Amino acid sequence: MAENRLNTVDLDRQLSEQTPQEIIQYALEEFDNIAISFSGAEDVVLIDMACKINPGKVQVFSLDTGRLHAETYQFIEKVREHYGIEIDVVFPEAAAVNKMVREKGLFSFYKEDHKECCSIRKIGPLRRKLLTVDAWITGQRRDQSPGTRTSIPVIQDDKAFARPDDSLTKFNPLANWTSAQVWNYIRSNNVPYNALHDKGFVSIGCEPCTRPTGPGQHEREGRWWWEEATLKECGLHAVNINK
Ligand code: ADX
Ligand code: SF4
Repeated sequence: MAENRLNTVDLDRQLSEQTPQEIIQYALEEFDNIAISFSGAEDVVLIDMACKINPGKVQVFSLDTGRLHAETYQFIEKVREHYGIEIDVVFPEAAAVNKMVREKGLFSFYKEDHKECCSIRKIGPLRRKLLTVDAWITGQRRDQSPGTRTSIPVIQDDKAFARPDDSLTKFNPLANWTSAQVWNYIRSNNVPYNALHDKGFVSIGCEPCTRPTGPGQHEREGRWWWEEATLKECGLHAVNINK
């Protein structure tokens, strides 16, 4: 275990010097059973890069919370067709959603906080999905959240979602890229993007919990805006806060 951890830290040092494409190439070579976690936002660049590196190897999944914007559903479909890939759209457990909504209504997250809803609609399905892979790739970047993401590594042991007695490796190939670099890549490679980005949205999550941001606002201010900055993680990236 300790050895594994050391390796990951050393590897992170080496991979941090590399481009996102080189990191993705490494990840696809090292792991046979690895999936990209696609939120339907600018993390589409991961799919574009992976398809150019090894199209046969690209597994993608999206967590459909049932509360995404219409534009996001349309975009996920567009990406599926554009790249000719399968996207595993993962759903929450119906009975758990049903119980929460029956007892607390459809907007409980405004009255309480987003934890229970995110746990049922995102974390449960993610946990189920991650039981089926050995590694996953996310679009997290350090510049996305001053509160929680400033030191995310390029590669890490994901202890939060690992199977018992097994390891799960998490890659964040865009960790060191800025939003400007991502958008430069999207524009110069004609990568399709979510129509919400042309409507003032920078960071995109569920419809009731995301709003456009104005000049000078950080992108994270458009997410769960009624809550403290320190809580602005839904738990998908629990390793960011469980340190
Ligand atoms: S969140 O935790 O606050 O919702 P964020 O929207 O910043 O995450 O996205 C960071 C990365 O988390 C995405 O690039 C993607 O890899 C993963 N992710 C977030 N939401 C989803 C989703 N609905 N389906 C699949 N992956 C997701
Ligand atoms: Fe529920 Fe909002 Fe979390 Fe989506 S982001 S799962 S709607 S609390």
